[in-house]
Amino acid sequence: MFKYLTIGIFFVILALPLTGCSSDILNALQQPQKAVEQEKEAGKPAPENNADKNTETPVKNTESAAQPEKVPPAPKQENTTPPPTLNQGTGKKTDPGLKLEENKPAKKEEESIPVVANPASIQVLVNKQNKLPDSYNPTDLVYTQVPFVFKEQSDKRKMRSEAATAINTLFTEANKQGISLLGVSAYRSHATQVSLFNYYVNRDGYEKARTYSALPGTSEHETGLTIDVTGGDGKCAAMDCFGATKEAIWLEAHAAEYGFIIRYPKGKEAITGYQYEPWHLRYVGKAMALEIMSKGITLEEYLNAIPVNN
Ligand code: DAL
Ligand code: ZN
Repeated sequence: MFKYLTIGIFFVILALPLTGCSSDILNALQQPQKAVEQEKEAGKPAPENNADKNTETPVKNTESAAQPEKVPPAPKQENTTPPPTLNQGTGKKTDPGLKLEENKPAKKEEESIPVVANPASIQVLVNKQNKLPDSYNPTDLVYTQVPFVFKEQSDKRKMRSEAATAINTLFTEANKQGISLLGVSAYRSHATQVSLFNYYVNRDGYEKARTYSALPGTSEHETGLTIDVTGGDGKCAAMDCFGATKEAIWLEAHAAEYGFIIRYPKGKEAITGYQYEPWHLRYVGKAMALEIMSKGITLEEYLNAIPVNN
């Protein structure tokens, strides 16, 4: 009996440290998995890095530019953040991210712009004085059926359902009349506009960028009601020279029949706040478009909105 008791105690003593170790081993095995999960959580998806290719390129000031401008991809965000530096006065590390935020006038200006109450309205006024809610996403985006200057599937091909139907018809009817068109850029998410605007600011400076590119939240492209177009040869995409083409002349005369206006007309820069953009079509519906285009006025004038200060 005593013999069996001794053997029993011997095995209990052996088992105790093993039981303790087992949880340590389990923990060690779980660590790599935890690390992977933490990395996944920390890693944010990169902004749409093709958003800035061939979209709304800055307007050239001369008619001589014959080739569409190739816009290089926006610099990756992680490369724009310098390492922490020591503050000379306090000796503390300065957060470079915060420093960049403070120096970015775009953010401050955006924040002071009133938010529209009717972002989903077909007649919504989005301009330098009226912005969309940051979280606004049109719920009825669909792919347009029109050809674009690029081949890939992309949100840039999308518009809100009613506008997409209208642009499909416009392209079809234009073709019947010997006018060949290509889409350049239609819908842009808020994140895409942020990325695009920041790219232009880096390239041309804030003041210059503001003359041709909208602050995030104030671009009509975010409404899903707008499309930039160009001629079938793809030249002059989002460039001044498009204005002299037969396609632009046709659009000026006929776009309203399909519910579109030339949103930033020549001579109205002080009202719209933007340079002449003969390629930027905004869907407002047929009746309103016909009145606006026949009177030669802007959306701001039609809506009796305060002129935009540059
Ligand atoms: N080019 C127009 C103003 C936009 O960025 O939406
Ligand atoms: Zn545009």
